[in-house]
Amino acid sequence: MARPHIEFLQSQVLPWFTLPGTAARPGADCKILSRDAEAGAVSVILRYPAGFAIDRPHRLDSDEEFYVLKGEVSIGDTVYGEGAYAFLPKDFPRGPMRVSKGADVLTFFPHKHDNHFDGGAGYDKRKLVEKVDTKTAAWDVAGVDPKVVGSGLAKLVLRLDPDSGERTWILRMGTSSPDLKAAPLETHPFVEEMLLLDGAISMPWGVLRQGAYFWRPGGIQHGPIASKPGCTAFFRCKEGPFSTNWTSHTETIQWDAPYQPVLPPDLQKYKDAPVPAGQAY
Ligand SMILES: [Fe+2]
Repeated sequence: MARPHIEFLQSQVLPWFTLPGTAARPGADCKILSRDAEAGAVSVILRYPAGFAIDRPHRLDSDEEFYVLKGEVSIGDTVYGEGAYAFLPKDFPRGPMRVSKGADVLTFFPHKHDNHFDGGAGYDKRKLVEKVDTKTAAWDVAGVDPKVVGSGLAKLVLRLDPDSGERTWILRMGTSSPDLKAAPLETHPFVEEMLLLDGAISMPWGVLRQGAYFWRPGGIQHGPIASKPGCTAFFRCKEGPFSTNWTSHTETIQWDAPYQPVLPPDLQKYKDAPVPAGQAY
């Protein structure tokens, strides 16, 4: 079963639980943002405790995509600090994994996954993104869709799948002019997923603040969008390549719309949960 439309939740209200000893990351704390229970696909934040280790070379029988929100993770000789991104394909050979001081990592698995300590059958080299340091990478300031409303726009594409066209990227948006009255609406043919890393976004469903998360299936019209303080957002397009159909008409920007999320039944209980202050997610 496909994942349901979640739009949107402040991830701060979602619970942490500790992964059991049988999990691929035993003892790490986990916060589930969304999941496909049938396929075992998940979008999670993993909180690795100080001293976490998988102390042998290994491979995972699944792709793993991740972005370090806080702290530092080492896999073999590669050090992933805050803002580092990777897409490690299924069966990619990994050195030991070590987290000396603790780390929070936005992580995506496309299905159930386990560690294996044999050599494996090789991996798809075309899909490997071993590391992108988003703090030093060259951001694309010219390539943002001109219909996106805002100043100071910049985009950093982290991954483009050679088969499916799925894409992962970070978008920075500056402050939208308070004189902005209206903007067009947009629709994408495939899933759009986002975690707001900082700032805020105004939408008719409410004001997304740092830590806001959505999983938006294809075909759902959304917008108009604007940002009072500017923002940085981590996006994925799933199930197919990214494209946008814009409406020819515009609608009024709702700068401070009340929170009216679209949530599946099991997440309705978080609709009125207070968002703890001082937590980014
Ligand atoms: Fe969109």
